[in-house]
Amino acid sequence: MLFDSHAHLDDEQFDPDRQSLIDSLPKRGISYVVNAGADLDSSGRSIELSEQHSFIYAAVGVHPHDAREMRDSDLDTLLKLAAHSKVVAIGEIGLDYYYDNSPREVQRKRFEDQLNLALKADLPVIIHSRDAHNDTMDILKAYSSGLKGCVLHCYSGSWEMAKIYVNMGFMISLGGPVTFRNAVKAVEVAQKIDMNYMMIETDCPYLAPHPHRGKRNDPGLLYLIAERIAEIRGMKAEEVAQITLKNACRFFGISNN
Ligand code: NI
Repeated sequence: MLFDSHAHLDDEQFDPDRQSLIDSLPKRGISYVVNAGADLDSSGRSIELSEQHSFIYAAVGVHPHDAREMRDSDLDTLLKLAAHSKVVAIGEIGLDYYYDNSPREVQRKRFEDQLNLALKADLPVIIHSRDAHNDTMDILKAYSSGLKGCVLHCYSGSWEMAKIYVNMGFMISLGGPVTFRNAVKAVEVAQKIDMNYMMIETDCPYLAPHPHRGKRNDPGLLYLIAERIAEIRGMKAEEVAQITLKNACRFFGISNN
């Protein structure tokens, strides 16, 4: 049984078949999904999905792409949403210097605003970081002692940085890119990281694992990521599934019964 620590099942790509797809997931080995928000609307939709399906939990937050649209009053709205019983994290939040959809100083401000929100809400954070590894690390270091928990989602940084994060008690979540034929850094992380700090995710509908690369992703493909990590480490896929599920339950405060 698998825990998908990061999905966007509210995405419009699932509009044609969302209900039947979600209903099929338990049969396809999915025990839990955390659906991550990217703005206020999708945060609200994440909560709706979590209300409709017992195995879906929600994260609420504003993605760095949308940082420039954010107003201070949105922080109060997010804090209210965060009080919902199925909300288990603030996210996804962070920095994206690849697309630079929002000015970098605005991204950094809204990232810190939402880290402070997580402290207030006493929830762990889900971090998006793309081509912004140094700034992400600098900011997170300043918050590391206060945060309830932190996961670097779809981690794309180096093993050296992963080690520093793990030493701060942070989690590393691996997704589809670890299965890509040209993967180097993610493979090294998958190989060397202490399994107690690993989670797995689809980030669906994006980043479908090999051999579905480029197509729509969904949590039913998460087993391919577990299988690839197992192959890299010389373990059984069931062990990878079991350990990452246990880690994610602990991280998000979900009791697994
Ligand atoms: Ni995401």
